[in-house]
Amino acid sequence: MNLPQHVRLVEVGPRDGLQNEKQPISVADKVRLTDDLSAAGLSYIEVGSFVSPKWVPQMAGSAEVFSGIVQKPGVVYGALTPNLKGFEAAVGAGVKEVAVFAAASEAFSQKNINCSIAESLQRFVPVMEAAKAHGITVRGYVSCVLGCPYEGEVAPEQVAAVARELFAMGCYEVSLGDTIGTGTAGKTRHLFEVVGREIPRDKLAGHFHDTYGQALANIYASLLEGIAVFDSSVAGLGGCPYAKGATGNVATEDVLYLLQGMGIQTGIDLDKLIDAGARICQVLGRDNGSRVAKARLAQQQR
Ligand code: HMG
Ligand code: MG
Repeated sequence: MNLPQHVRLVEVGPRDGLQNEKQPISVADKVRLTDDLSAAGLSYIEVGSFVSPKWVPQMAGSAEVFSGIVQKPGVVYGALTPNLKGFEAAVGAGVKEVAVFAAASEAFSQKNINCSIAESLQRFVPVMEAAKAHGITVRGYVSCVLGCPYEGEVAPEQVAAVARELFAMGCYEVSLGDTIGTGTAGKTRHLFEVVGREIPRDKLAGHFHDTYGQALANIYASLLEGIAVFDSSVAGLGGCPYAKGATGNVATEDVLYLLQGMGIQTGIDLDKLIDAGARICQVLGRDNGSRVAKARLAQQQR
C-alpha cells in the first residue's frame, strides 16, 4: 500500500461552510475564523466568493473579509470567481488565488451558475487570461462528480471531460466535488482511475460533502489512488445553496485525525483546529459537525 507521506488540506469552511448559512454572519466573525484557521496551521484557506450577492447573499462581504484578515506568509487565501466580473472584484480585494467552478451535470450547471457546462467553460477563458496577466493562480472545481441532485448518476467520463478542459485552460489543480455526498468508496476509486487517465493524479483533489456519511471512506479510497489534496470544512460547516439537502463538507478535524492515525503529515495542529471549530459553532449557535471535535470537547468537560 503506497500512501502519500504528506497531504495538503484545503480549508473551505469560510466559503463552502458559511455560504449556506441563513443568518447574518459579521465580517469580524469571518475574519476571526480565517485567522484562527491559519493559526492552526492550514496552508490553504478558501476565504470567500465573488459571486452575485443575489445568488449567494452570505458571500457579499468577501472583499471586506479579505481586507480584515492577517495574511500569514506561506498561506494561500483563495476565493471563488464564476466570471470576469467576479475575478475583477477579487483582484480589487487583493486576492492572489482564485477558483473557477464548473459541473459535470448540465442541470446543476444551470441551477448553480445559470449557464450550460460549455458556456461556463467559455466564460472561464477570459478569467484564465486575466489571471495569467495578473500572476494569479487558478484552481478548478468540477461539481456533481459522484451524482447530481437533478440528474442522478453522472458518468466518470463526463467528469473527466470537464476536468480535462479546466486543466487544459490552465487550472493548476482540479478538485472533484461530491456535492451531494452520495459517492461510495468503490465509485470514488473508479472515478480517480478514469480522471487520472486525463490529468496527473498529483494535479487532482477530492472535495467530499458528508451528506451520506461516506466522506472519510471516500478520502481513504482516494488516498489509495494516490490523491494527496483534500478539501474539508472545519466543524463540517456548510452545504451548497443549489443542492437541496446537501450537508457540509467532511470536517477538517476528522480528516486530520484519520491522516494523523496513518502517520501522514499535514502541518496542522488538531487542538487549535478544534478550538477554531468550537468558536465558530458557538457564533452560529449550531451543532459541531466534527465527531472528533465533539469527542475531544466532551472529554475536556469531564
Ligand atoms: P446571472 O444572473 O446569469 O449573471 O448569474 P448575469 O451576468 O446575467 O448578471 C446578472 C446580475 O448579476 C448583474 O447585476 C451582474 O452585474 C451581477 P444587475 O445588473 O442585475 O444588478 N453579477 C455579479 N455580481 C457580483 N459578482 C459577480 C457577478 N456576476 C454577475 N461575479 C452568476 C450568473 C454566475 C453570476 C450567478 O449564477 C452566481 O453568482 N452564481 C454563484 C453560485 C454559487 O456561488 N454557488 C455556490 C458555490 S459552488 C459550490 O458550492 C460547489 C463547490 O463547493 C464544489 C462542490 O461541492 O461540488 C465549489
Ligand atoms: Mg462544495
